[in-house]
Amino acid sequence: MKKIAVITGASSGIGREFACLLDDMGKVDEIWLVARRRERLTRLAADLRTACRVLPLDLTKAESFVYYHEQLAGSGARVSFLINCAGLGKFGSFASNRQEDIDDMIRLNVTAVVMMCKYTLPFMARGGHIINMASSSAWLPLPYFSIYAATKAFVRHFSLALGVELASSGVGVTAVSPLWMNTEFIDIARDSPEGDAVDRFLILYEPRQTAVLALTDALSGKAESVTRAQKLIRRAVSLLPENTSMLLWNKIRKKRNALPSLSLHPLPPAGQ
Ligand SMILES: NC(=O)c1ccc[n+]([C@@H]2O[C@H](COP(=O)([O-])OP(=O)(O)OC[C@H]3O[C@@H](n4cnc5c(N)ncnc54)[C@H](OP(=O)(O)O)[C@@H]3O)[C@@H](O)[C@H]2O)c1
Repeated sequence: MKKIAVITGASSGIGREFACLLDDMGKVDEIWLVARRRERLTRLAADLRTACRVLPLDLTKAESFVYYHEQLAGSGARVSFLINCAGLGKFGSFASNRQEDIDDMIRLNVTAVVMMCKYTLPFMARGGHIINMASSSAWLPLPYFSIYAATKAFVRHFSLALGVELASSGVGVTAVSPLWMNTEFIDIARDSPEGDAVDRFLILYEPRQTAVLALTDALSGKAESVTRAQKLIRRAVSLLPENTSMLLWNKIRKKRNALPSLSLHPLPPAGQ
């Protein structure tokens, strides 16, 4: 049976890197490249040695999943890797966020990840891997990036829980939670009414680094993929009251922070 990898968001950034890495590793017979920009996917397919199937789909649209499912069912293939990279963020206050951007963030970052997992799982078997792009923004509520951070908290929680449910089936699930990466993501996030609400990116990784670590972690059965520096930051965040961490974020997100800062009062206990 043909072994395939399905990668969403393969037209740029880390999705493209995953495709190149899997091509180098020669682990699958075919790579399915999913994103909207057909010409980018076609160019990538031509550059890879592994056979590719180009699926130019808009994953904010329900009919895309129906088409994907038909393709999968008709292929007779087994999915060795499902790598969900398609994602989108928009900087700015919630009040300034455009309704269509809010819809797209929720549809792409949340619904599409869930639908891709739902439709793909019946075609996976022991030894298969699901890799979902979460983000370090999943660890904390982030003012001025609130919808995005909340969608990534969803992806992280969903992935960790799914990994436990699937443990006995031998399908591994890895949530990847990087800090900033040098991709088109940041320019797209800036393209919003308050796009300058975040303009300081303290640590910027190359997407290749993150993809190499994520694949290594997935193949060694880790539920979450983060660098050592990220682990330290997360530990520090977990030791601080949530409101203090949000205050810190609010200070560091801008080079010249002119926006109002948050109160330092700790959050009341849950239920109050
Ligand atoms: N860059 C960062 O700092 C960072 C940090 C943490 C986590 N992440 C996460 O990492 C993942 C990959 O991001 P990246 O940094 O590689 O950004 P990127 O270069 O902007 O890639 C995003 C990908 O999503 C695809 N996409 C966007 N809208 C789509 C739609 N409606 N339907 C289908 N595909 C769509 C894009 O392709 P088309 O435009 O061709 O459709 C592109 O291939 C995202 O989930 C992001 O949230 C990024």
